[in-house]
Formats: sequence, structure tokens, C-alpha cells
Amino acid sequence: MSDPLLQTENLAKRFGGIVATDDVTLAIAPGELHAIIGPNGAGKTTLIAQLSGQLTPDAGRIRFAGHDISALPVHRRSHLGLARSFQITSLFLDLSVLDNVALAVQARAGHSFHFWRNARRERDLREPARAALARVGLEARANLPASALSHGEHRQLELAMALAGNPRMLLLDEPMAGLGPEESARMVAMLRELKKELTILLVEHDMEAVFALADRITVLVYGRVIASGVPADIRANAQVRDAYLGEAEHG
Ligand SMILES: Nc1ncnc2c1ncn2[C@@H]1O[C@H](COP(=O)(O)OP(=O)(O)OP(=O)(O)O)[C@@H](O)[C@H]1O
Ligand SMILES: [Mg+2]
Repeated sequence: MSDPLLQTENLAKRFGGIVATDDVTLAIAPGELHAIIGPNGAGKTTLIAQLSGQLTPDAGRIRFAGHDISALPVHRRSHLGLARSFQITSLFLDLSVLDNVALAVQARAGHSFHFWRNARRERDLREPARAALARVGLEARANLPASALSHGEHRQLELAMALAGNPRMLLLDEPMAGLGPEESARMVAMLRELKKELTILLVEHDMEAVFALADRITVLVYGRVIASGVPADIRANAQVRDAYLGEAEHG
């Protein structure tokens, strides 16, 4: 592999008696779409939270773009180009689609959040916000309140918010969650486009999407990596089928 863009070494995180992240060592190459799969409670969201800086690991290191980011706060990591989107929606439904993205631009720019009222008028926030909306195909919806969007469009909007700071790498936690087949297909097409320009870590239960998009897949079970490799190897791995894929494929 060329020098990894993101790397973890022996990452560990416990919640009381639960080992949510158990000695996780991962390397993600620039330009790769790397999927993390595994059963509910396997530690996927906990891993993303440690990569983005929301959670502090108990042990281990994280490197991104040549920096040791293990101890950096969220905003420093985002300035280095590491952006996350959330499994749980975090939109301002009364604000316009454009203003939601403008707030994300402002947050990345490091201004204090309570100046948000001014954000609406600031061209230097709105221009990058429009560009991010265009990347996810939502520019025609820019002036609607976020509450007017469909569930699938909300996920596109969240993606635009993650793109607002022009990141090098996106951490995506279940972008297909709750989407119908058509909306999922649109999200897959969008991620396929973004993957040409960005490195992506994708946590997802939708195996059709994962196998359509991933260059490599890592399987977590009880916080531990049980397999990591190209999709064909993961599909053929008996331990993975027992722990997760068999179950996922049969509903
Ligand atoms: N803040 C917390 N406090 C205590 N336990 C937690 C906390 N966050 C997660 N856990 C536990 O850590 C384990 C891993 O949870 P996590 O949410 O990372 O799993 P996941 O793989 O994202 O699951 P899902 O597929 O359902 O989203 C679970 O046992 C969960 O109950
Ligand atoms: Mg999760």
C-alpha cells in the first residue's frame, strides 16, 4: 500500500465492562473506499467517534495525513481534512437547506457557533455551501426549509454538510439507514462519484451498497477486527459468514 491516509494502531475503548473497540489496527490508503461492517453493537460508531475526536480512546494511536491526531480535538481534525457525518440526524429543520450547509461551513471555519444569525448574509459562507449542495444534487432545493425535504434528501443534505469544509476524507455512519430502494440507489451513485475525489470510510448495514462500493472491507465483531480485505475475500470468508453476512443476507 502507498502511505496510508488514515491509520489506527492498537486502538482500544471500553464502556464499563463492554469492550467496544478491542485492539483495532487499520490502514486506509488515499483514494480508497473502506467499508466497516459488523453486527449491531460491534463498535462501528464507537470507532468513527474516536477517529473524528468525539471519543477519546483508552489506548492506541490514530494517524491522519502524516499527523498523530490521537489527542487532537474535533475541530483540529476537521481542519486537517477529516470530516464525519452522523448516524443520527443533526439538522436544523426550520432553517433553509442552504443555511444548514452554511452553518457547517462556518463551523469548519472555526467561528463561534453563536454568530449563526450572521451566517445567512455572508457570501463567503454561502458560496461554498452552494458548491457542496451542487455536489450532492440538492442545489434546486437550497431555499426550502430543511423540513420540506424527504428522508433521502436529508441524508444528501448531511453529506453536503460533511463536504462543506472540502475534506480529504469522509467518515460516514450508515448513510443508507432508513432509505427506500430508489433513495439508496441514488446515495450509492453519489458515493461512487465522491469516491473519485475523496477517501471514504463507510459504516453500513446495506450489504448491496457495501459490495457495490468498497475497495476493501473490514469486519468488526465485539469490537475486534475478524477480517479485512477485498470484497471477494470477505464474501468467501467462513468466519465472516458465520458472524455477520449469513445473518444479514437472510434478513
Ligand atoms: N456512550 C456509551 N456508553 C456505554 N456503552 C456504549 C456507549 N456507546 C456505545 N456503547 C456500547 O458499545 C458497544 C458498541 O456500540 P456501537 O454503537 O459502537 O456499535 P455499532 O457497531 O455502531 O452498532 P449499530 O450497528 O447498531 O449502529 C455496544 O455494546 C454499545 O452498547
Ligand atoms: Mg452504529
